[in-house]
Amino acid sequence: MQPPDFLQESKRTKCQEREGNGSRRKVLIFMIPLVSSGLLDSLSASGKVKGSNPYNEKRLLEQNKKMQAANNVPNDFPSFIREGFQVKVVASDNYQKRDSGLMYLDIEVGNGDCPRDGQQVIFHYIGYNESGRRIDSTYLQGSPAKIRLGNKALVPGFEEGIRDMRPGGKRRLIIPPELGPPVGPSTFFSSKQFEVFDVELLSVQDCQRRTIGFYSDVICN
Ligand SMILES: *[C@@H]1O[C@H](CO)[C@@H](O)[C@H](O)[C@H]1NC(C)=O
Repeated sequence: MQPPDFLQESKRTKCQEREGNGSRRKVLIFMIPLVSSGLLDSLSASGKVKGSNPYNEKRLLEQNKKMQAANNVPNDFPSFIREGFQVKVVASDNYQKRDSGLMYLDIEVGNGDCPRDGQQVIFHYIGYNESGRRIDSTYLQGSPAKIRLGNKALVPGFEEGIRDMRPGGKRRLIIPPELGPPVGPSTFFSSKQFEVFDVELLSVQDCQRRTIGFYSDVICN
């Protein structure tokens, strides 16, 4: 199996910072299939998408819960109810919501200082799509991710979400499309997706820049 984009990235960088990261902005990119899920199929098959109606919504939520159960989602997983281009996020009151649109649930808070710009975060994560299907997992890959903060190396919602975690903390992030990876425009057949991540912040490292002749890199420990 090919390592995901971002693992190749972290191997390549090994704590080295590239000068000017404009060309490789996105690290955590998942190839979320843009073609409709079963849920969308059933909507478009019905010909027209009805406006939000409580009966419809209840039915969609039930379908959603079934799909999630089949995907064996963890407790307190959010549901995404799509009607046309409208998406309603159904999540328990345990979730916090930020003005940015990011939602999160602290499963464990952890101890110590939150990471700052320039520091390296070492973390495990599991990424899910809206159906609760596991799309990616560092646990399965066998090694955690290492990323320096403040380089725009993470998708914005992920960076915002991990920034105020503490080492040992576990948090579930619900990242809305506008804080997710850049994708093409929505069309009738595709729409921007939410992503859910379970993140476990293992540790935070300080990094120093060192220069040897013309060569400059960053060491974290
Ligand atoms: C989630 O991923 C599965 C497997 O790739 C796919 O069948 C399903 O349609 C996806 N759900 C959404 C909402 O994209």
